[in-house]
Amino acid sequence: MIKDHPTPYIRVEHHEKILTIILDRPDKRNAITVDMYQVMASAIQQANEDDSMHVIFIRGSRTCFTAGNDLADFKAFNADDKPRRFNPLLQAISRAKKPIVAAVAGPAVGIGTTMLLHCDLVYAAENATFILPFVNLGLCPEGASSLLLPQLAGHQQAAELLMLGEPFSAKKAGDIGLVNGIYPVEELFERTLKQAKKLAAKPLASLCLTKKLLKQASADIVQETLKREQLHFAERLGSSEAREAFNAFFQKGKKD
Ligand code: COA
Repeated sequence: MIKDHPTPYIRVEHHEKILTIILDRPDKRNAITVDMYQVMASAIQQANEDDSMHVIFIRGSRTCFTAGNDLADFKAFNADDKPRRFNPLLQAISRAKKPIVAAVAGPAVGIGTTMLLHCDLVYAAENATFILPFVNLGLCPEGASSLLLPQLAGHQQAAELLMLGEPFSAKKAGDIGLVNGIYPVEELFERTLKQAKKLAAKPLASLCLTKKLLKQASADIVQETLKREQLHFAERLGSSEAREAFNAFFQKGKKD
C-alpha cells in the first residue's frame, strides 16, 4: 500500500521486474475513488524511478475491470475543488516511461476504457465489455479519448462509441485496435502476464526508448487534450444534466 494515500482497494505488487496494480474493490465493481487514483499514479511514478521494475501490469478481477470513476465522488463534486480537475492517474499513465500491459475482464467503464488508450499492450477476456458512457451521464470525453480514439479507430467509430455510449464487446475492441488479443477468462491473467514477462526480459533502455519514440509524435497534443477535456469535464460535472444522471444511478440502486 502506498503510505501517503492508504486505500485497501488498490494492491500494488512487485515481482520479477513487473509492478502489478490490481483494482480490488469488488463491492463497488472496482469503481475508482480519488485515493485509488492517487495510489495508481504513485505506483506508476514508482516504476518510472525504479529500474528494477521494467513493466507495469494493470488488472482488475476476472469479473470486473472497473466501473469507472466512483459516481459518489462525481456527485459530490464541487467546482471549487480544483485538484479534482487534474486526474493524477491520467497524468501518470499518459507520461509513463515503462511499458504498460493491461488485462481486462468484465466491464471496463469510462476511464476503465480510456486508460487503455495509454497502455502499450492490452488483452481482454471473452467476457470483457467496454463502454464510454460520458454523454449518457451529461459529461464529455476524458483521458484524451477525443484525440486518441479517433486516431485509433477513425472519426465515425469514435463518434459512435463516444456519442451513443453503448457497450461494446471484446471482439469490437479488437477490431478497432484497442486490444491486442482475446483470451478465455480463466486464461486471461496468466497469458497476459506471459506477455508482460517477455517485455520485462528485454533490454530496459531500448524498451523505454521504443515506447518514447512510439508516443513522441503525439506527446504534447495528448497533454493539451487532457487539459482541455478536464476543463470541460469539470464544468459538465456541475451541470444539471450530469446531476440528474448521477441521482438516477443511485435512485436505481435503491429501487432494485
Ligand atoms: N461508482 C460508485 N458505485 C458504483 C459504481 C460507480 N461507478 N458502479 C457500481 N457501483 C456500485 C453500485 O452502486 C452498487 O452498490 P450497492 O451494492 O451499495 O448498491 C454496486 O457497485 C454494484 O453495482 P451494480 O450496478 O449492482 O453491479 P452490476 O454488476 O449489475 O453492474 C456495472 C456493473 C459496472 C455495469 C454497473 O454498476 C454500472 O453501470 N455502473 C456505473 C458505471 C458508470 O457510469 N461509471 C462512470 C463512468 S464515467
